[in-house]
Amino acid sequence: MIAMLPSLSVCLLVINFCLTDATLPSYIKPCKRTDAGLNECVKRTFEDLRPHLKQGIPELNVPPIDPLFLPEIVVAGSVEKGRGQPLRAVATNVKVLGAGDYKVQKLVVDLKKTIYYVNMTFPFLKIEANYDMDAKILNIPLKGRGPLKANATNVRANIVLHGAKVKIEGTTHIQFHSMETDLRIGDYKIRLFNLFNGDPTLNNAINAAINENKQEFMKTLKPLAEDTVAKYILENLNKIFSKFTFEEFFPK
Ligand SMILES: *[C@@H]1O[C@H](CO)[C@@H](O)[C@H](O)[C@H]1NC(C)=O
Ligand SMILES: *[C@@H]1O[C@H](CO)[C@@H](O)[C@H](O)[C@H]1NC(C)=O
Repeated sequence: MIAMLPSLSVCLLVINFCLTDATLPSYIKPCKRTDAGLNECVKRTFEDLRPHLKQGIPELNVPPIDPLFLPEIVVAGSVEKGRGQPLRAVATNVKVLGAGDYKVQKLVVDLKKTIYYVNMTFPFLKIEANYDMDAKILNIPLKGRGPLKANATNVRANIVLHGAKVKIEGTTHIQFHSMETDLRIGDYKIRLFNLFNGDPTLNNAINAAINENKQEFMKTLKPLAEDTVAKYILENLNKIFSKFTFEEFFPK
């Protein structure tokens, strides 16, 4: 009898390991699908996930969001340069600080249609990157390559996520296929270094022009920023939702 104990505890360990591997980790709180306060529950789950999203969740293959790192953002042809030449701009080694300070203002879940409405805010974002571009936006020539620094305050993101319940290896999971993003930036400052090979007069004049025409610039850059954000969120959200079943996130 006593001789059996070690093997029994090994067995329990194995079972325990298997179960924890298959069920939600403690930092993701499930929400009862029949709960009258379902929206509040999902909102709390998302808020509670903040420290984990900040650092990243390696076991789910989710990278840290603060700092958030994007190796490359390529803009080609979305804004026309003068004389019909397409704009070309590339940002590399993009580092965003502050995304981990998100606040969820409002969250509404439609479990039947798999639509999530999320309104969130970021009090302060700081961006560092390298840029390489040859473009004309609002008649302002932008040509050069070098470092870029920007910061933004009171950024609002109103998001609608569209998904479906899909079968993955025999179990039902939520997967999102598209996202509508409405980004609104309260205010920002941006500085492009080394425009026109660093000509100081041009550099200062152009940086001043960019910061003086904020509303127009934001309108031009908004679709690009929204696409980038949507791609990033969809990819990482689907990693989390493919790992666990609908039943685990939303038990009866
Ligand atoms: C998010 O904000 C937009 C714009 O203010 C609003 O129309 C929408 O109803 C909000 N969504 C939710 C879920 O409150
Ligand atoms: C935001 O950027 C501007 C311009 O580069 C800079 O002067 C300012 O110090 C920055 N603000 C913060 C809080 O980092």
